[in-house]
Amino acid sequence: MRKIIIAGNWKLNKTSREAMSLVEELKREVLDIDGIDIVVCPPFTALDDVSEVVLDTNIALGAQNLYWQDSGAMTGEVSAPMLKDLGVQYVIIGHSERRQFFGDTNETVNKRIRAALTHALTPIVCIGENLPEREANKTFDVIRHQCEGSLANLTADEMKKIVLAYEPVWAIGTGKTATPQQAQEVHAFIRQLLGKLFNADVAQSVRIQYGGSVTPENIAALIAKPDIDGALVGGASLKAPSFAAIVKSAKK
Ligand code: PGA
Repeated sequence: MRKIIIAGNWKLNKTSREAMSLVEELKREVLDIDGIDIVVCPPFTALDDVSEVVLDTNIALGAQNLYWQDSGAMTGEVSAPMLKDLGVQYVIIGHSERRQFFGDTNETVNKRIRAALTHALTPIVCIGENLPEREANKTFDVIRHQCEGSLANLTADEMKKIVLAYEPVWAIGTGKTATPQQAQEVHAFIRQLLGKLFNADVAQSVRIQYGGSVTPENIAALIAKPDIDGALVGGASLKAPSFAAIVKSAKK
């Protein structure tokens, strides 16, 4: 059985003070929830403060990116040891916004994954097609290419430590969710691909989240699908009641 994982990607939102108050509220809302991984990914500047608030709770801390070197002349970057030092456990890698606006490629995603694994951070690796690709029936090709490139040269044991997030770019922040059937179709494809690239054990054990306009209203139908193991939530994670409602609904 794959454990469900719901992660909130706060993106470029929340000062430290705002982040602490959001997570204080969330902490109370999800106090009784167990058997499910709950992760919040605030901006770098709020990690330290949020880390204190989630200490000894059922909420884990994630970052939204990392650089692959541990240290050096890389102005503006943040490394895995720096994140570990703050109690970070997860790190989102290769989000479509990083790929689209900040030059992330399958190669740099692969380097970031390696750095995360070296320092025992759990990577949440994002993949997904954009609208023209979907309309041209290239979804599976794009996903295959992204998986082969981003996950290149990882061992089966390493792959088992990774969480994947299927996020169709056309569904991110648009209010246009993939239907549960559309998402399931791609999730099943990814799982099959993992079987080919690694082995059957990897295919069965890797958790694949869906992301893209997930809300308290649509999570239940998504999570009911056999290959959907959780959600990466953007907009709806910025308010404690809606994120908590997603967590609770996913738990059922
Ligand atoms: P959204 O973002 O839920 O606001 O669509 C999801 C994501 O980008 O991870």
